[in-house]
Amino acid sequence: MINQYISDNKNRFLEELLELLKLPSISADSRYVDDLRKTAELVAEKLREAGADNVEILPTGGHPAVYGEKLIDDKLPTVLVYGHYDVQPPDPLDLWDSPPFEPVIKKTELHPEGAIFARGACDDKGQMYMHVKAFEAMIKTGNLPCNIKFIIEGEEEVGSENLEGFVTDHKDKLAADVVLVSDTGLLDKDVPSITTGLRGLSYLEVELTGPNRDLHSGLYGGAVGNPINILSKMIGSLIDDKGKITIPGFYNDVEAITDEERQLIQSAPFSEEEYCKKLGIKSTEGEEGYVTLERSSIRPSLDVNGIWGGYTGEGAKTVIPSKAFAKISMRLVPNQDYEKIMKLFEDHFKAIAPESVQVKVVPHHGGEPAVTPIDSPEYKAASMAMEETFGKKPIPLRSGGSIPIVAMFERVLGLKTILFGFGLDTDAIHSPNEHYGLFNFYKGIETIPIFFRNYAELKK
Ligand code: BES
Ligand code: MN
Ligand code: MN
Repeated sequence: MINQYISDNKNRFLEELLELLKLPSISADSRYVDDLRKTAELVAEKLREAGADNVEILPTGGHPAVYGEKLIDDKLPTVLVYGHYDVQPPDPLDLWDSPPFEPVIKKTELHPEGAIFARGACDDKGQMYMHVKAFEAMIKTGNLPCNIKFIIEGEEEVGSENLEGFVTDHKDKLAADVVLVSDTGLLDKDVPSITTGLRGLSYLEVELTGPNRDLHSGLYGGAVGNPINILSKMIGSLIDDKGKITIPGFYNDVEAITDEERQLIQSAPFSEEEYCKKLGIKSTEGEEGYVTLERSSIRPSLDVNGIWGGYTGEGAKTVIPSKAFAKISMRLVPNQDYEKIMKLFEDHFKAIAPESVQVKVVPHHGGEPAVTPIDSPEYKAASMAMEETFGKKPIPLRSGGSIPIVAMFERVLGLKTILFGFGLDTDAIHSPNEHYGLFNFYKGIETIPIFFRNYAELKK
């Protein structure tokens, strides 16, 4: 009956998502504050229409969060659904085949039934909206077996920094038994998986200053330290030949992983060749002694996200710049503390700088890693739900991405999270031409109510 309802309304569900995707809710860019508010209002309206009570837009100190609930019986368990309506900046715009905020459905090799192309299609509007529609289907067919609360925020893509205070201030409102989040991915379209861990993050910016002004690179070249040359060398030294990060103390707190979990990762269906092919690279690269899936999940990493300075316009200009900059992120694993890591980075980066430059390190945001158990009723409910809709038992696997709120829900509310994501690595989240398969969108809407049914059953 619920599946009938979903299939009868599937076109409308999609139309509604497309409306949501038209709003440029770019949280990193202050020019879009009004669009973030409008997006929050639309999410609130859709929650109300779907049948939620007490829907409100709550201030957070930053972009607002949307709350809604349906409390049917205080003897039943309560599921807190979290998602985010903000998106990453769409840049570089010229690499998009269609405008990022004018969603279109296109068929691809992987998605012959079609995929929605737009910024936020997968991360996270499309995945968040699956919950709104699954909720609607449960309500309208009289199949809601638990209490449900929604918290949909607007600052995930900038580190959810205002959310800690918000959650602390609204502990009672958000009280629940488990958190359910769809903001991660599957191993493949026909290989279901459930994310059991997320990496933490330390994100910072460095600024090197050499001479007090830009210099003629002929008159001064060879005699004065060039901040860009120096920055490149310093960055180059942060990872050694064995793929290890060279910051002293960096690995001190890294959690030792059990052989059992490594075995599980190593036996996951994964083809190195396919992986390289999809990315257009000849080979992968990383820490010695670990396979690709380990390198990108249970081991920490360090990457330059942007680097600039000097002349980057058209043609050539001969100059030794006064300054050079880079944005650097480190992905962290359990037991690493992002503030401690920022400090280790800063001390080390200053220590390796030659006297010819001054170094400034500015921390951006951080996030704690998280792991979720696989022997809990909620994990079983999630696993059984995917097994039912995919016809295969999902593989528990950690992911390399970060969702800082997950560790915070555990710390502040004492709640574990189920990472019930339906995205794919090929969805190009944060990249040009982000998309989300219609298959994935509908599969999520169909699977979520089964999670609720199983969870209510197992918590009896
Ligand atoms: N949804 C992603 C995280 C993600 C994607 C986890 C796929 C696992 C699989 C989330 O929106 C995100 O992009 N998080 C940021 C962190 C944030 C602090 C900017 C990230 O991981 O870079
Ligand atoms: Mn996301
Ligand atoms: Mn994201």
